[in-house]
Amino acid sequence: MNITWVLGQPHGHEKGSFLTVDLGGTNLRVCWITLPGARGQPSIIQERYQMSKQVKTGTANQLWDEVADRMETFIRDQRLDETTTQPLPLGFTFSYPAMQDFIDHGVLQTWTKGWDVKGVEGEDVTTQFREAMEKRRLPVKLVALVNDTTGAMIASAYHDPKTVIGAIFGTGCNAAYMEDSDSIPKLAGRLPPACPVAINCEYGAFDNSHIVLPMTKYDHLIDKESPRPGEQAFEKMSAGLYLGELFRLVLIDLAKRDLIFQGQDDSRLDKSYILDTGFLSAIEDDQSPGLQNTATSFTAHTGIELNNQERQVCRQLAELIAIRGARLCACGIAAICNKKNIKAGHVAADGSVANKHPKFKRRWADALAEIFDWSEDRIEDPIVLTPAEDGSGIGAAVIVAMTLERMSKGEVVGVKEATDMRDGSQKTAEMHNNLKKDSRRFKC
Ligand code: BGC
Repeated sequence: MNITWVLGQPHGHEKGSFLTVDLGGTNLRVCWITLPGARGQPSIIQERYQMSKQVKTGTANQLWDEVADRMETFIRDQRLDETTTQPLPLGFTFSYPAMQDFIDHGVLQTWTKGWDVKGVEGEDVTTQFREAMEKRRLPVKLVALVNDTTGAMIASAYHDPKTVIGAIFGTGCNAAYMEDSDSIPKLAGRLPPACPVAINCEYGAFDNSHIVLPMTKYDHLIDKESPRPGEQAFEKMSAGLYLGELFRLVLIDLAKRDLIFQGQDDSRLDKSYILDTGFLSAIEDDQSPGLQNTATSFTAHTGIELNNQERQVCRQLAELIAIRGARLCACGIAAICNKKNIKAGHVAADGSVANKHPKFKRRWADALAEIFDWSEDRIEDPIVLTPAEDGSGIGAAVIVAMTLERMSKGEVVGVKEATDMRDGSQKTAEMHNNLKKDSRRFKC
């Protein structure tokens, strides 16, 4: 449960142009976003750059050099440095667990989702990133470090005030919600009571001690063979990165026991992570007679020909794995709703599973209905999954705007390097040796 220092929901009139960088999965995305205010439609100029496996498993220097190089190219191509004398305010979406003492600071607790860059865990990622930007003299000021879940919540709340939770059901899984400051012992009085603060739950790490969730031998195998065994237990059972791999492990087990693929060369199935969640979605979506499409795609991926029975096995297995995942995702959200006594509202969700799996939304809603015992003849579900606005871009931009707005009022609690970007004056929280004094100056 990480404090994000995002204080309250946006009022919808946030304005201005902001740089955002999104580091969290397959691509690195750099955007220049203009918020028009009055809940208007933001405009986005963006570039995506593929992150190589080498960078994802390389060293800290390689990673930050790559990110800063891409930003440099983007700033130059868009001629952003020619339009202003002030540094460009940056929102950095970093979709990994980071402990934040300030909104513009964050120590990476652990890499997740298969990333494994040496020399970053336990370090402040904003310092490492700033150093790479300074080496290139980029005219940029990192204002906010943002988790993708918080970004999804804030970007959606900018347009839709019914948003109560931001969630990611994609390669990883996680959610963010608003908590009252007085319910957060970790804050130790740094904020006045009843101040809303976004919490990044990091519930992908729920049950890392493996005592609550009923794990199968395949779950144990996924965990054992991952770069971080013993971590992200809940995520490994429910998120997109792992669903296809679970499917592969079960098939290998059945084949070893000679129950399927008899007499066929199944060696291509030995390669980890060759089947992704898109593959499982396609199996569940297959309307072709005799599941012909499933068979064709399976042969293309593995070289194995499926007989009729094996096609049914694949379909049922894909269903079982996806149903369990969707129901676990509903449990995470239900836990937040129970804690906050949320009876109705919108859960703004993003991610490949939420957006692309054909049955995820229905299964998720059915599970929530079971947990909360919603009446069968309800006209609509009180808690609804809505497609999140672009959290890692627009969300980060809105959070930067909110942070600059409070800095300009001198409300610098939770901001490490508070410079008023209009006049360049320093308002550094560290200068206040008494943070409590600082918190009294902050109005919620
Ligand atoms: C990370 C979270 C992130 C989630 C969704 C998890 O692996 O720990 O910080 O929000 O993936 O991207």
